[in-house]
Amino acid sequence: MKRIEIDINGVLKKTIGNEGLSEEDIYQVSDKLDEFKKKLYKTPYPFMDLGLIRSYIPDIEVIKRSTQKIKAKNLVILGIGGSSLGTETIFHALLNPFHNLDPNCRGLKPRYFILDNIDPHKINRVIDIIEKEKDKTILVVISKSGETPETMSQFLLFKEILNTSKNPHQRIIIITDSKKGMLREIVNKEGYPSLPVPEGIGGRFSVLTPVGLLPSALMDIKIEELVKGAEDMSEYIKKIPHKKNMAILLAAILYLMDNKGKKMHVMMPYCERLSAFADWFRQLEAESLGKGSNGPTPVKSIGVTDQHSQLQLYIDGPKDKCITFICHEGENRYIPDSFPYLPDLDYLSGKDMKDLFYAEFLGTRRSIIEAKTPNITIKVNEINEYNLGALFFLYEMIIAFMGKLYDINAFDQPGVELGKIYTKAVMGKKGLEKQKKTIEKDLKIKGQSISF
Ligand code: PA5
Repeated sequence: MKRIEIDINGVLKKTIGNEGLSEEDIYQVSDKLDEFKKKLYKTPYPFMDLGLIRSYIPDIEVIKRSTQKIKAKNLVILGIGGSSLGTETIFHALLNPFHNLDPNCRGLKPRYFILDNIDPHKINRVIDIIEKEKDKTILVVISKSGETPETMSQFLLFKEILNTSKNPHQRIIIITDSKKGMLREIVNKEGYPSLPVPEGIGGRFSVLTPVGLLPSALMDIKIEELVKGAEDMSEYIKKIPHKKNMAILLAAILYLMDNKGKKMHVMMPYCERLSAFADWFRQLEAESLGKGSNGPTPVKSIGVTDQHSQLQLYIDGPKDKCITFICHEGENRYIPDSFPYLPDLDYLSGKDMKDLFYAEFLGTRRSIIEAKTPNITIKVNEINEYNLGALFFLYEMIIAFMGKLYDINAFDQPGVELGKIYTKAVMGKKGLEKQKKTIEKDLKIKGQSISF
C-alpha cells in the first residue's frame, strides 16, 4: 500500500524548462547526502533516537491514567514555538474541527486551549471559561529551557488560578529539560508530575517526544501509532538508496531550488486537516535553516482558499517560488442538483465535492506548471496517527539533510534566543542592564513619526 507518494515531475526541466532542475543536478546532491546518511545512521542526531522516544510511552500512559480519574473538562496547554506547534498540528489533523464547540464531537474528551501567545485578550477569555471549572482543568506546561518568558508568565498566572481548586498538584503537569532551568527547579521543589524533553532535542524537533505525545495521549490519540509511523519512516530513509529516497530527494531539491533563486518555499495542503502541518513546517524550515544570511523563506498556503488570495502572485509574480502541494482524498459530500433549469451548473450539480476539491488542485497545479513554477506533489492516503508520525519524521530528516548541505547547525536558534534576552532585559531581569539600556536608546531615537 502506498501511504505517502511524492511526485517530483513538476521540478524537472522536462516539465518547466529552464526554471527547473535536471535529474543529474538532483542526483549529484542526493549522492552526497547518501554518503552523509550512512554516517548519520551510525551517529544519529538526538531526534532520530526513536528507541528512547518509545521508552517514554509507559510514563505518558501513567500520567494519562491518573488524569482520567479527574474526568477533566478542559485541557490548557502552555507553550510556544516548538513547544506547542506539534501538538497544534496533531490536534488539528486528528480531532474534530468543532471539538471545543460541540460536546457530541468530543465525547468524554476535554476541550483544549493551546496558549501559544500572551495577548491578554485571548488569555482572559480562556480564564473566563476555566474559572468556573477549575477542578476539572488540567494544565500542561511545556518549555524545553524552562525559562521562556511567555510560558513562564502564563504559568505564574494559571498556577494562581488553579491554586484555589482541589488538589491542583495532580492537575499541573510539566514537560521540560530533565536537569536544567527554572521549570525543572519548580518540579523538584513542588513535586508536580513531569516528563522530560530529551537531551539535545530542541523545540521544533520535539513533536514526537513527550512534548507532543503527552497532550496527544490526554486526547486519546494513538501515540504508539505516531511513533510507529516515525520508526518505519526512519527505516525507509535508512534503507532506500538516494534516487528513490523521498527525504534525500526533497532535501536536495529544496536546497537546489533555494540556490536557483526559488527562495520562497510554499507549502500548500489541499487538506484542511493538514493546514497546521504547514505551520509546523514553516517553523521547522525557518528556524533551522535561517542562518548566516541564508535560508529559504517558508510560506503557508491552503488549497483551495488561497487560490483566491495568493495564486495570482505564485503564477504571475516574481519567479522565486517552489511549491509543495499536499493532497489527500478525504471524505466526500454529494452536491445536489437543486436548480435543474440551470444547465451551466451541470458541471457541479450531482457531482462529488471531493472530485471538485481534486479538480481544483489539478487546475491549480496545471496553471502553476504553465507559469513554470517548480512544484512537488505529496499524496497521503489517509490522515491518521501513523502517517502523521511518518510525515513529521520525514520533514525533520529533510531539514537535517538540508542543514548539512548549507553547512550550518540546523538545531540552534541564536536569533530567537537574542529576542528572549532583550525581552527579559526590558522587563528588568537582573544581569541584563546593558541590554535594557540599548532598548531605552532605541526608544529615544527621534525618527519620523506619522500619525492619523
Ligand atoms: O524550536 C525551538 O527551539 C523554539 O521554537 C522553542 O521551541 C521556543 O522558543 C520555545 O522555547 P522553550 O521550549 O524553551 O520554551
